[in-house]
Amino acid sequence: MRKTMGRGAVLAGLGVHLPPGVVTNDMLAEALDTSDEWIRTRTGIRQRHIADPGVGTGDLAVEAGRRALASAGLSTVDAVLLATTTPDQSCPATAPQVADRLGLRGCPAYDVSAACSGFLYLLTTGAALISSGLFETVLLIGADTFSTTLDPTDRTTRALIGDGAGAVVLRAGREGEDGALLGFDLGSDGSQVDLLVVPPRGHFQMRGKQVFTNAVIRMTESVERVLSGLGWSVESVNHLVPHQANARILAAVADQLGLDPARTITNIGDVGNTVAASIPLALAHGVREERLRPGDRVVLTGFGAGLTWGAIALTWPGISITA
Ligand code: ACO
Repeated sequence: MRKTMGRGAVLAGLGVHLPPGVVTNDMLAEALDTSDEWIRTRTGIRQRHIADPGVGTGDLAVEAGRRALASAGLSTVDAVLLATTTPDQSCPATAPQVADRLGLRGCPAYDVSAACSGFLYLLTTGAALISSGLFETVLLIGADTFSTTLDPTDRTTRALIGDGAGAVVLRAGREGEDGALLGFDLGSDGSQVDLLVVPPRGHFQMRGKQVFTNAVIRMTESVERVLSGLGWSVESVNHLVPHQANARILAAVADQLGLDPARTITNIGDVGNTVAASIPLALAHGVREERLRPGDRVVLTGFGAGLTWGAIALTWPGISITA
């Protein structure tokens, strides 16, 4: 667990975007040997948003980025970072084009790749750039069109995955103020790459049961390290906002932590697993439901391909989001 020292990074804006196309479980069941009942009971997912052909990760990222800037009341930032595992092309990174389309040509812009943990890696990187004094403001966007990696005949992965984007603005501030990012834990284990992998020119492959077990263990341990580093008790945490992998995984993490499951914020039923967009989309859901209130203690956690995992603690700021 790492703690920021002195100058802090503060959450100043939040924006999200989902492609309009919705694929319900019943629609999947028309083409695949599956059912709404199986998907809902095994995953908690009712539907997912899927980008139309020709709509890329950058397109979704631009919309979320624009909304995060509006939420922060800013028209410019010092850097744009994009977490994605499905960039618009393998070279160059997608972030410079997103920055350009947001009217931010000239500022440093680069991609971060850590699959479903991408947003946590991104927040940690952005907070470090601010805490170091290098930048005053950063725009951080998590966006994926991971549906493009799926085997169209694979009922398991198609049931889980959705597309989307979410973004935050961080600004320099004080550690004591609402919105400050306070504790960070990140990890990886490349020896287990075969649990979740998109091989060259292949489709996404997953060992579901092993992923399930690892996700519960890694997220629970990561949250525990952050809590212990900050001296926060589990009871003092108002909201756990996990990467939305599977409703049963989220329930198991709360159970392992001894956290009241009602304190977990989840929107998986509406969006599925949106990879790097998952955590900011869940945060936006928490704001819309008026569950996240200024000063609340919030812990984010995630797990994904790599393997990668992490957790970040913050207090919630007084921010509003646009539709
Ligand atoms: N509809 C109907 N049946 C299905 C479906 C489906 N959509 N998907 C799988 N099944 C079948 C399986 O083929 C299996 O059939 P079999 O017994 O005849 O072989 C049966 O259901 C049971 O499968 P299990 O694997 O035991 O089901 P489980 O309860 O473990 O649920 C699941 C599977 C949902 C995949 C679960 O293991 C899971 O959520 N794992 C974690 C997934 C995850 O988080 N992945 C991250 C992906 S994103 C990323 O990393 C970028």
